Amino acid sequence: MSKDITNYFIKLEDEYGAHNYHPLPVVLKKGSGVYVWDVNDKKYFDFLSAYSAVNQGHCHPKITKALVDQSSKLTLTSRAFFNNVLGEYEKFITDFFGYERVLPMNTGVEGGETAIKLARKWAYEVKGVPSNKAKIIFVTGNFWGRTLAAISSSNDPTSTTNFGPFMPGYEIIPYNNINALKKALKDPCVAGFMVEPIQGEAGVVVPDENYLLDAYKLCRQHNVLFIADEVQTGIARTGKMLCCDHHGFKPDILILGKALSGGVFPVSAVLSSHEIMLTIKPGEHGSTYGGNPLACQVAIAALKVIKDEDLCKNSELMGEYFRTELKKYISKSKTVKLVRGKGLLNAIVINDHPESDTAWKICLNLKENGLLAKPTHGNIIRFAPPLTIKKEEIELAVKIIISSLKEFE
Ligand SMILES: Cc1ncc(COP(=O)(O)O)c(C=O)c1O
Repeated sequence: MSKDITNYFIKLEDEYGAHNYHPLPVVLKKGSGVYVWDVNDKKYFDFLSAYSAVNQGHCHPKITKALVDQSSKLTLTSRAFFNNVLGEYEKFITDFFGYERVLPMNTGVEGGETAIKLARKWAYEVKGVPSNKAKIIFVTGNFWGRTLAAISSSNDPTSTTNFGPFMPGYEIIPYNNINALKKALKDPCVAGFMVEPIQGEAGVVVPDENYLLDAYKLCRQHNVLFIADEVQTGIARTGKMLCCDHHGFKPDILILGKALSGGVFPVSAVLSSHEIMLTIKPGEHGSTYGGNPLACQVAIAALKVIKDEDLCKNSELMGEYFRTELKKYISKSKTVKLVRGKGLLNAIVINDHPESDTAWKICLNLKENGLLAKPTHGNIIRFAPPLTIKKEEIELAVKIIISSLKEFE
């Protein structure tokens, strides 16, 4: 019976949905805090957090209350009219992150598109780049979504094969290589350098300690905008409010998404200065749902939860514990060669061929043992629980992970 009900839902998706995902065979029906339950009432630790969207924990009561309260008042006006929530949200989020202006969107990838449009507009109207010559620099391994503009910056064949032709005006340089950036910035037409402070989808790849600050300084020297894609790393995930905060600089353009709504629905935002933001004039960019009152209330509530519950601190402490315990295990392991990450954005690298399915099998085993995680990019497993996880919960989760790994030694 229990297998039947799981298979029923899996089969429905298989028969009627596009096959653009390959989920773990578990069908979830409920979430609360760090836990999710499947259709057979089996309880799991959620160690993916919807790719770091559910930083505040599943169905956080303060966030769902904001959603419910606003949903019976006013949900959408479009930007054809003012509404009585957007302005307060704009003031709140700009104060919160220390920026002058915000442009609200919905998904993370729209945030990236918005940032690039802003950088191009700024390049033509402020920096003085000749028409249609503006260039954006990206790094290998970047991931910021699935639109054509986003995959045009990708060097991953899974993202790009048979989806061309691609967006011009991009250059992809090696990640974590400051000399490559130095060279690329010699071109006076460069408008912006867009980078994830830690590459999430590439497998939680952490650059050298000085890379980001050096890159930021180089951008300053060359009058190039530093665009931080903090859609996955932002909002306390890495132990500080922004991952760039670890390095003591403020990006010229900041992209946020995912946890900006605590996983309730898509809310993204691009933050920047008067100078950059005001290059875009009425009618030149927008979105029907961007800045809707429901999203604004949800985002305010989601950000307040991060501060009120001191989730930066918890992320830092629990992340430290997680890496320390796994490093102890890995020192004697043949299966795992590395643990890396910051705060509660971590991953283990499996000691096997990148094309093998060991990581997938380990994730199946973790699922049997009550913990959900997903392989990313070959033989890497990301571990990113909600930031509300308590010490006794992460202790238990680490035990589950270690005993699941032991079965592969
Ligand atoms: C760093 C980063 N940027 C952008 C995105 C795109 O966000 P969305 O899927 O909401 O469009 C993602 C999604 O995983 C991401 O990890």
